[in-house]
This record gives sequence, C-alpha cells and structure tokens, in this order.
Amino acid sequence: MSLSKKILVTGGAGYIGAHTVVELFASGYEPVILDDLSRSDRTLLNGIQEITHRDVSFFEGDCCDKQFLSEVFKSAGPFACILHFAAYKSVGESVEKPLEYYRNNIGSLVTLLEVMQDNNVRDLIFSSSCTVYGQPDHVPVNESAPFKRAESPYGATKQVCERILEDAYSTGFRIVSLRYFNPIGAHPSTLLGEIPIGAPNNLVPYITQTAAGIREKLTVFGGDYDTHDGTCIRDFIHVVDVATAHVKAIEYLKQRSEESLYEVFNLGTGIGVSVMQLIKKFIRVTGINLPYTVGARRPGDIEKVFADPAKVNKALHWKVKYSIADSLLHAWQWEKKIRDLKN
Ligand code: UFG
Repeated sequence: MSLSKKILVTGGAGYIGAHTVVELFASGYEPVILDDLSRSDRTLLNGIQEITHRDVSFFEGDCCDKQFLSEVFKSAGPFACILHFAAYKSVGESVEKPLEYYRNNIGSLVTLLEVMQDNNVRDLIFSSSCTVYGQPDHVPVNESAPFKRAESPYGATKQVCERILEDAYSTGFRIVSLRYFNPIGAHPSTLLGEIPIGAPNNLVPYITQTAAGIREKLTVFGGDYDTHDGTCIRDFIHVVDVATAHVKAIEYLKQRSEESLYEVFNLGTGIGVSVMQLIKKFIRVTGINLPYTVGARRPGDIEKVFADPAKVNKALHWKVKYSIADSLLHAWQWEKKIRDLKN
C-alpha cells in the first residue's frame, strides 16, 4: 500500500459509504467520494461535513464510466486503497430490472479493477453481502459455507463479483470482501442515516416510517417459518459498526506484505434476531406504538441467517460496539430528523 492517506470511496454519498467516510476522517485518512447520486443525494454529504467539519472532496459521476474514473484517479490520487460501495442494492427491484443490476454492479467493479491496474493501485475493500450464501445449511454461517443459488439477481451480482475478485486478485490485487449482514440504524449525531427512495423495502426503515405515521401499518412477511416465533431471523448490525470495520480492513491490508491476496469476512454481530423480536424491541426502546399485522411470506426471503463473526473479530481486531437497542433508537431519531427537514 502506498503512503498516501487518500482513500477513494465509490458510493460514498450512500448510506453505508457516508458513515464510513466519517470514520475515515476520524482515523486520519483523506477520503475522496465518487458517487453518481442516482440512489442518493447531497443530504448525506452535508451530514458528513457537519459531523467532521471537513471539506468533502466529491466527484459526481458513474463508476462504469472508465474515462471519468481514470480522470478521478489522475486528478485526486494517488489512492492508498479503494472502498467500493457503489452498487444497486434493492432485492425487489433487481427482479424487475435484472439487466440493469448486472450491468451496474458487475460493470462498475470490472471498470474499477481495470482503472486500478492502469494506475498501479492494488488495495480494494469490496462491499459484499450475506445474500451470497442463499439459505445456508448451518447457522451461524461461516465464510467457508458454499454459495447456494442466489435468491435474486441482486444476490447473484454479489456472487459474480466475488468470483471476479477471486479470479483477478492473483494478477496483483490485495482485496478484502466484507459480507454485510443487515446494516441498520443511523449515526448517533442524527446527521446521517438511510434515506429510502419511495416506500422502503427493508424492515427498519419501514418500521420507522410506520411509527412516524407515514405508513399505515407494518406487515410482517410470514409467521409460519421454522423459527421460535415463526418469523424470519437476521443478524442486524449498526451501520457505524459496519463503517469502522472498513477502517480496520484498510489497516489489515497495510500490515500484510503479500503482493496479492484475497480475504473474505462476515460482517455481522453473531446474534440472530427474529423480525418479531425486533418489532417488540423497537416498541420497548422508543415507547412508540407500532401497528403491525402478520401477512404472507415475501418471495425470495431466507428463513434464517446470522453470522459466525470469529474470523473478522480475530483478523481485523474488530467487534461491534452498538446494541440492537442503540440501532433502533438511532434509526428512530434519524426518522424524526428527516421528517423535520422535509416539513
Ligand atoms: N420484512 C418484513 N416486513 C417488511 C420488510 C421486511 O417482515 O416490511 C422482513 C423480511 O421478510 C425479512 C426481514 O424483515 O425477513 C429483513 O428484511 P430486509 O428487507 O430488511 O432485509 P433482507 O434480509 O431481505 O436483506 C436484503 C439482502 C441484503 C441487503 C439488504 C438491503 O439480503 O444483502 O436486503 O438491501 F443488504
């Protein structure tokens, strides 16, 4: 890794990217954001500035555009490492628009690797997902579990991207893939959080919007799963914990001397929480009434998945700091904040 402190953050105006930019500043790095703002807007860039009191270096453009990317490398580099968040991430939308997902998620990664090669930048942290496992045979799932058929085109893009990295790393890349479980919550300052486009697909934004009265009620997708209360089980992790793991991953690569390497880590808490448990906890923590009903299963949902985080805990010297209660409280505080901004 070069001695430069500059880190290119693709998708840095998005939910996880923006939280990571804050942690990069706090650790003495100089993040440079690249984002096409197609699934985000400048709100989070302003939030980063308010939290860090730093000028945010920002390039607006598409990561699939090789010429644009090359110009960013030339004008804002040299980069010590690239954090590649830029991707489409809606499972439901990927079923409706599979080709857009393949073009964007795979095209941006291949373009980025080519431009990294042209500029002699070797270190990359890739945003992968627990969806690569499909429904694992055993939970908690560890990194050596085989990939099952992905339930959605979105999941398939993450599987293909990991395959590309596995094939390409030996040509001179040093790569860490972080398989996120379910990132939730918001920055404790309430200056950053998730801004869903349209009606949220994900559970926690739907919960907070229902609690705020924007949605009439929450539907729990399926109450007849083979789990202790019949609802699906996930590993919900605070977004700031996800962000700090990226800083640890940069440090990890710095300490490794290999010319090329590829490592994969689960990024989860290790605690499986059911949808119903999460709802009850939200009500308890916030004291807000949450109307909900139990409905049909959502096609493509996995019954039960949570991480074995032993590898990431040991190798990256990282562990979670925030509880589920913290995550839900921060998500609720953020929801109230964006309502005020919009009203
Ligand atoms: N759920 C509900 N009601 C809702 C929304 C969700 O009951 O209104 C349930 C789902 O059925 C699921 C659980 O809440 O059992 C979590 O669902 P999310 O949509 O929040 O998240 P997923 O577990 O489906 O995760 C998927 C992908 C991740 C990806 C994430 C965010 O698996 O890789 O969506 O896009 F990161």
